[in-house]
Amino acid sequence: MFDIPFLDLPALSSATGTVALPGSKSISNRVLLLAALCEGSTTVQDLLDSDDTRVMLEALRQLGCGVEVDEKARRATIKGLGGEPGTPSAKLFMGNAGTAMRPLTAALALLGGQYELSGVARMHERPIGDLVDALRQLGCDIEYVGNEGYPPLRIGGSIGTSALKLDAPIRVRGDVSSQFLTALLLALPLVASKDIVIEVVGELISKPYISITLQLLQRFGVTVKRDLDASGQPGWQRFTILAGSNYRTPGSIHVEADASSASYFIALGAIGTCRNGPSSIRIEGVGEDSIQGDIRFIDAARQMGAQITGGPNWLEVTRGSWPLKAVDLDCNHIPDAAMTLAVMALYADGTTTLRNIASWRVKETDRIAAMANECRKLGATVVEGADFIQVTPPAIDKWTAASIHTYDDHRVAMCFSLAAFNPAKVPVRIEDPKCVAKTFPDYFEALFSVVGASKQQIPVLCIDGPTASGKGTVAAVVAKALGYHFLDSGAMYRITALAASQAGLDIVPANEQAIAAMARTLPVRFEDTKVMLGLQDVTDMIRTEEAGMNASKVSALPAVRDALVHLQHSFRALPGLVADGRDMGTVIFPDATLKVFMTASAQKRAERRYKQLISKGISATLDSLRADLEARDLRDSTRAVAPLKPAVDAKVLDNSDLSIEESVKAVLNWWPGLVH
Ligand code: DC
Repeated sequence: MFDIPFLDLPALSSATGTVALPGSKSISNRVLLLAALCEGSTTVQDLLDSDDTRVMLEALRQLGCGVEVDEKARRATIKGLGGEPGTPSAKLFMGNAGTAMRPLTAALALLGGQYELSGVARMHERPIGDLVDALRQLGCDIEYVGNEGYPPLRIGGSIGTSALKLDAPIRVRGDVSSQFLTALLLALPLVASKDIVIEVVGELISKPYISITLQLLQRFGVTVKRDLDASGQPGWQRFTILAGSNYRTPGSIHVEADASSASYFIALGAIGTCRNGPSSIRIEGVGEDSIQGDIRFIDAARQMGAQITGGPNWLEVTRGSWPLKAVDLDCNHIPDAAMTLAVMALYADGTTTLRNIASWRVKETDRIAAMANECRKLGATVVEGADFIQVTPPAIDKWTAASIHTYDDHRVAMCFSLAAFNPAKVPVRIEDPKCVAKTFPDYFEALFSVVGASKQQIPVLCIDGPTASGKGTVAAVVAKALGYHFLDSGAMYRITALAASQAGLDIVPANEQAIAAMARTLPVRFEDTKVMLGLQDVTDMIRTEEAGMNASKVSALPAVRDALVHLQHSFRALPGLVADGRDMGTVIFPDATLKVFMTASAQKRAERRYKQLISKGISATLDSLRADLEARDLRDSTRAVAPLKPAVDAKVLDNSDLSIEESVKAVLNWWPGLVH
């Protein structure tokens, strides 16, 4: 929905309700790859639909897997390759999906065939040398197409399973990204003609992600042996894929909701309040028993003051301590969710230190630098080191309205939406909000479904003007550009007039009260491009010239105008509203952020309407259209209540000689953006 350069969040004041979260990216992409490598079909339930999973699905299609996706049912069925290359060669584009790039590199190097793997510019800055080194130890043929140590990669022809050097342990570094080890673990069962040992060099980071890998391998019939550590527990240094290991499809597998995504809503529960006391946020799709490491975020959130209860597949969070309690934590086990702690730290009673997070530097962006920069913009004092970040919140009067740069990093965008709860009530702009599509395409819709703001804080942009001035078209485009709701108030009068005539009521003053009573309970719904009156699709019916004239008549009845006020006010919802009509700026939203009065000469407007009608195959004459239009203008601007006129503080745009795009640009240029 948000195909816009930025999203302005007004100050948010409350949070309460239930959110159902999308599937985990890490689980989704691992499961897709395992399903592709095994024989037979696997149905993946609750699959995440996001940029990264699309990258993986597209790659699997190109590699010759059967891929069927039922988006509505959030389900994909993958017909696996059964360990054989499905195609001799392919060029695969990996976007910025590390969870696709790394495991596919390992799988394709072992599968045989010739492949080229590339991605977006940032992907070409994300290291992969440690994985390539490990695969080369086995004898795999992999070349760097660009810079040594980074994608893009060319993976050479098959060297044959028999030529692979499986006897010596494969050594892989574990201290840069755990995805290298994951990639090897997922791919090596392809060639496990004998026991294959992997030795981790350096302290393994992000161990919980390795746990996910091991648990999913288990679901696909592969058990990995772990050498015990000094305390006799399964360790993290030496893993053995047993000879004869073979992927076996579980037939059907369910993807848990994303525990990292849950962190924003857990934080919301800890930060928000609702009118009658503490907030209560219920999260569905993931519970305390999750196999994802980031679920341990709940311990950190509890330490900061959140009250959290949960069961299988659900969590409930309310605010406990307030302000939140500053903490000093080792976050190595929750690398992604820990970013959320950095924003929670803005609401804490002192300085929060998050340690052991060096992996942040090699993620979608350098996340330590990104979090530090953006927290500073809001007024916080931040110290950053090679592997830590320290955040001291701003004093209440030192918060500053900020435009948050998001670095094409979904988590930066989601984290900083939480800054809109700031006590100074300054707005927060999120740049490039659609980057959340990487893991949570509907994040902002989910957020707006559970947070509230006082009506006065919700920005409104009004576009009033006479008929055929182009205001409706411009308003709809502007609404889309800002990611705001859209109110076509003329449609309300058109529908009321239609409903009156369907009920046999003439539009005359004698029927004023009866029509007003109807208007008060109109069963009207706006569905995408359709307007519904009860079960009837009235989209086209209300757009005729006659319907416009009747609307003008019905709108001159004061009781009818009054009856429609509440319905129009109800459109003022987060994140904002663009409203078009005759009295949006003067009567309905007098406190609007921006009021535009859009007009054009009667001749130009008649010509526009004429073209419109002719293109629809409806005959008309220019003169009669102009006469009708002037009659409507006269009635709309001379009626006793809410006559058509520019608000005193409106900006007037005469667009007689402007195209729609030029009018849109002019309106957006006036939009102040950050609302003060
Ligand atoms: O914008 P429109 O052509 O769909 O509006 C139809 C009629 O409804 C218009 O002639 C006057 C009336 N109207 C109004 O009185 N107040 C509004 N806010 C919107 C429309």
